[in-house]
Amino acid sequence: MTGPSLSNLVRELEELVRLEAYGITASLEGSRLIVTALKEGALNTYLYTEEELIRLNREPISLIAEPPWDASRVIVGRDVAKGREQHALYYVPLDSPGDERELAPGLGPGRVLSLVDQGERVYVTRVFDDGIWVVEATPGSSWRRVGPLPGMGWLADAHRGWGAVQVFTPEGRIRLMLMDLAAGVLSDVAAPGGSVMAVRFSPQGELVYALEKTDGVELRRAAPGEGDLGLLGLPGKDLDEYRPMGVNYMRFDERGRLIVVAKREGASQVFLDGWRVPGPRGVYSNAHPYGDGELVASYSSLRAPPQVVVLGGEGHRVLLSSRLPPALEEALGEPEFHRVESADARRVPVIVLPSRRARRQGPAVVLVHGGPFSEDDDSWSVFAAALALLGFHVVMPNYRGSTGYGEEWRNLILGDVCGMELEDIVSAARWARSTGLAAYTVVMGYSYGGFATMCALTRKPEEFAAGVAGASVVDWEEMYELSDPAFRSFIDLLFAGDRSKWRERSPINYVDNLSRPLCIIHPQNDTRTPLKPLLRFMDRALEKGKTFEAYIAPDMGHAVNTVEDIEKILLPAALFLARIRERLGA
Ligand code: 4NP
Repeated sequence: MTGPSLSNLVRELEELVRLEAYGITASLEGSRLIVTALKEGALNTYLYTEEELIRLNREPISLIAEPPWDASRVIVGRDVAKGREQHALYYVPLDSPGDERELAPGLGPGRVLSLVDQGERVYVTRVFDDGIWVVEATPGSSWRRVGPLPGMGWLADAHRGWGAVQVFTPEGRIRLMLMDLAAGVLSDVAAPGGSVMAVRFSPQGELVYALEKTDGVELRRAAPGEGDLGLLGLPGKDLDEYRPMGVNYMRFDERGRLIVVAKREGASQVFLDGWRVPGPRGVYSNAHPYGDGELVASYSSLRAPPQVVVLGGEGHRVLLSSRLPPALEEALGEPEFHRVESADARRVPVIVLPSRRARRQGPAVVLVHGGPFSEDDDSWSVFAAALALLGFHVVMPNYRGSTGYGEEWRNLILGDVCGMELEDIVSAARWARSTGLAAYTVVMGYSYGGFATMCALTRKPEEFAAGVAGASVVDWEEMYELSDPAFRSFIDLLFAGDRSKWRERSPINYVDNLSRPLCIIHPQNDTRTPLKPLLRFMDRALEKGKTFEAYIAPDMGHAVNTVEDIEKILLPAALFLARIRERLGA
């Protein structure tokens, strides 16, 4: 029941971070697949045909567009500024692997928020100095700005001159708008109250969208010029009976049938025209038509690294996966789903990955996801797996602000960051200790999760034995100064426009309260959560004689894309946690 030696630990972590992870980007006619994988040490995309993987991109990528069924090339993007998220875009002909060509000569690199590949035309949602714009590119020849978006938003799909746009309102709703792609003009699609979580054009040019409300998601139809047309009726009733709380993914197949990946309580299932397509328990991030009536999907669970599976017909089969080394498999317990009561009696969904290397009443990490509009679920997490290997139970609260539990739960965080969502995180930690799972709780997170970690250690230091803050936010005032228009708009959304709270909700103003060991890990070139405020935070912590350690990850930005990136974040955290465990025992 004790942890492995340090050299064993580093060797095991190396094995873990080197595991290949496979996903499907799309299927093409002729049973060909576009597979995107963490493989060869980085994210690369491959043409899969006759059990052979042919790498398409030359250098590792950070973005890829879902190609249409009859695609003759793929659109990829990569950061060209050492992690500063300045993306350059390329297209690669499928019959000429490695032959990357500039997508839009003269456009120059910039932060890309979405890519929609329509074959002849490609639509890019991109940040410019003057805001977020949709750009139309004709691969290899010309490009033009189509029109601006009124805040944080992105083009989700396009069809015959119309674009479907999702935009955050100041109230945190995600509304559906139509963009006339010739004129660049936006119009509202009047819809009943709720947030649009996924949208696609049908082959006939109608819009099908998933509308998230307080207690579930419904599928609706709309049409350009006609607005909302009511609920979508599907032949199969399995999807309705499933009572989805979220939609991970949606598309039509080439026969006009609707593929939906719906989720509830940390797991998801695949539906074809409303009929359930059985598969292993866990999380699917997408599904595409394959062969003769089958589907091919991206699947993972907390115990199964990302893989490509074929569903339908007789059960399922794995097309592309990597095997977990036995020592890793043995360390990972069975994932659990719980509801934990918070300070205001609301019930917080909590996912637990027990470590078989920890006893009951062992060490535990409360791992806090980023976003905050994101969630922890039964999908693969290299960080959760590493913590279990290190002998920590992993407790993952879906604090208010998380997706997957309805619009109200997601929006409860607006105007109250470092407020009640911190109570949710604290409640998860107390629950872990009071149920006998945890002897003590360490808090850890990346990005918004790093911010939550800093909040926890400066506002609730008595609740946590230590903390690991990755890519954290410590000062909203300085952060705003350093942000681009997209993230400025996002910060205004998070604070519900109330800038008077910036100071009060910034951990840098509570350095005095630090009393637990703190490990700071921060990418040098992070443009989402910049390093500079952390340098001032450390300066204050030093002045006040606080105990902390810090690791600056060189030549890296916010995104964790390569094996080297994962190591830069994970290894300093692992060494810190191994020392905490050594000191506190259990
Ligand atoms: P994330 O990053 O947690 O990785 O999505 C964030 C970046 C910026 C902000 C929050 C989270 N922000 O508030 O500006």
